[in-house]
Amino acid sequence: MTHSYPEVFDFQGFNAPSRIECDIYDLIVEGTIPQEIDGSWFRAIPDHQFPPKFAKDTYLSGDGMVSLLRIQNGHADFKQRYVMTERLKNDRAARRALHGLYRNPYTDDPSVRGKDRTVANTTPVWHGGRLLMTKEDGLPYEVDPQNLETKAQFNYGGRLKSQTFTAHPRLDDESGEMFFFGYEASGLATRDVAFGIEDRNGDLVHEEWFEVPFCSLMHDFLVTKEHIVFPVWPMTCDLERLKAGGAHWVWEPDKGSYIGIMPRGAGVAHLRWFHLEPRAAFHYLNAHSDGNRVNIDFAPARVVGFPFIQEASGISVPPEKMGGRGLVRWTFDLNRPAGGYEEAILGPGGDMPCVARKDAGKDYDIGYYQTFMPQNGTPHIVGPVGPGFNTIARIEVKTGKLSTYAPGPECTVQEHVHIPSKQAGHEGYLLFVVDLHDRMASELQLLEAGKIEDGPVARLQMPFRLRCQVHGTWVPG
Ligand SMILES: [Fe+2]
Repeated sequence: MTHSYPEVFDFQGFNAPSRIECDIYDLIVEGTIPQEIDGSWFRAIPDHQFPPKFAKDTYLSGDGMVSLLRIQNGHADFKQRYVMTERLKNDRAARRALHGLYRNPYTDDPSVRGKDRTVANTTPVWHGGRLLMTKEDGLPYEVDPQNLETKAQFNYGGRLKSQTFTAHPRLDDESGEMFFFGYEASGLATRDVAFGIEDRNGDLVHEEWFEVPFCSLMHDFLVTKEHIVFPVWPMTCDLERLKAGGAHWVWEPDKGSYIGIMPRGAGVAHLRWFHLEPRAAFHYLNAHSDGNRVNIDFAPARVVGFPFIQEASGISVPPEKMGGRGLVRWTFDLNRPAGGYEEAILGPGGDMPCVARKDAGKDYDIGYYQTFMPQNGTPHIVGPVGPGFNTIARIEVKTGKLSTYAPGPECTVQEHVHIPSKQAGHEGYLLFVVDLHDRMASELQLLEAGKIEDGPVARLQMPFRLRCQVHGTWVPG
């Protein structure tokens, strides 16, 4: 390979491609990994195998890499492999990138026209005894959870009709079900959304389609014990724009936002749409129903944050001017014919939120997310948005009590995962990658979730820089 990567932030500095597939037996640990932790942490990392066909590519087009940290008996082993997608196989055969712009097949080399182009780089999903590497623009790839070898693209043996599958399915620990959706379900720029349910055994037991008001970047959704919620923000796609070689997503605030809510089990004919002001959000901390009142906890922004979407939209809004009112609770009252919602402020804004699995979809108190606090360090570029988060926050949403942990002034944090404890009254652990910008290196840190301000109980040394992940998942045992 003689080409180099473009001199834009997606491919330089901490974001330089890594492309390392490896096995590391027994990482060096400072401190102690509690004996009770026994499980596997899977992470999904975009990592361009080749320099992109066009310099104006985004980090999010990177070929999917899956990593596994296996923790047992106080020790940790690390493994990392590419997901062998059809796209990566075709690119490797040509020894160059044949695929063009982010989610625009009209910009691909003619030799791969009509071939699958998803990169399976967003979230590892474990359910029904299988590990899927997902990206919302296509179908997931099944990966062997032990050796990380790619098995095949997965669509329930042809039974799933949707052409796409979200990177944010929602699990109900009590029913054992996995809820998911796919937007652009019948093809590029379509308004069709598929809603599906996989039962506890991994069987597809439900698929139903509906139309959204416009084709929107629907990255995540919400499931409570009683309701399903589909947020639609004004990031829109247009087929003619794609055919002309343009961007997949453009910010169109004039369209406003929509929130679709339906009772769980009632079917998509019962979706009720609330029309709202333009907002942008990608992830949701949690949601719960209180009778006919549906509560959604998240941190909406006033404008989309991704630089490549801003550029395609002809806008340039710096991070400090994108924010909304922080982490908020929006309450939709289905008994109110007039629509609208109530807003309560919970805490400072941020992203990468999660709750303990046992709390998902229920009235709850404790959430974990990430934020940037100037007093904790200077901004450092890492990942697809630009400046990374430097602080992990634990919030008690009923009182607003906030605790924080920041690893250092030259550090950013990648998404944390929550590990439940087997001890009664113990809140579990948070595990995450810390980016060490002064050394261009990485380490893993483990916090007690109930005492994050005390700092790590264990630090795991990594012998090389870990490229920024998108999402990860913890699989016990
Ligand atoms: Fe996400």
